[in-house]
Amino acid sequence: MRVEVDNAEVGDIKELVRLESKYIPCPWSEKQLLSALKDERYSLFVVRIDGKAVSYGGVSIALDEAEICNVVTDEGFRGRGFAESVIDRITDECAKKGAKKIFLEVAENNSPAKNLYLKKGFEKISERKNYYRLGLSAEIMEKKL
Ligand SMILES: CC(C)(COP(=O)(O)OP(=O)(O)OC[C@H]1O[C@@H](n2cnc3c(N)ncnc32)[C@H](O)[C@@H]1OP(=O)(O)O)[C@@H](O)C(=O)NCCC(=O)NCCS
Repeated sequence: MRVEVDNAEVGDIKELVRLESKYIPCPWSEKQLLSALKDERYSLFVVRIDGKAVSYGGVSIALDEAEICNVVTDEGFRGRGFAESVIDRITDECAKKGAKKIFLEVAENNSPAKNLYLKKGFEKISERKNYYRLGLSAEIMEKKL
């Protein structure tokens, strides 16, 4: 089994579309993913097993601020540190490009994701009440670099 953490490429798009549509409530379309791949403001990273993307995450970087878009791992591959590797790559890229802060938003009831971000050094800085459907709030988290 060959595991690699890499920049996402056009050849990963079908799997990324599948991960987005399966696990993300407002998924990015193939068109959005392809345009992010070509847009230098975005950096997308994947974990591939034997060439197939099983985890991925993206970040947009503008001057000294960055925002994580989505982080997702396919169900059968969770709990193996793959999302952590993706966050590590995102953090390295942000530091390399001069970002000083990384922001993200996460649903208040998404314990796996909140634990992941806390483990990677993010702190809750504010809350957007009733941000999602069913009255769920969004927690805004920040990591300083
Ligand atoms: C959140 C998610 C990306 C984690 O992916 P993963 O590859 O399983 O995560 P990792 O194995 O790298 O776990 C790293 C840390 O995250 C936390 N974590 C991950 N899964 C967890 C769970 N089910 N319960 C509690 N904490 C969890 C832990 O702190 C873990 O560290 P540990 O293993 O030392 O305890 C995955 O559950 C997922 O895809 N969820 C659906 C999509 C989603 O909600 N994305 C976030 C949008 S903001």
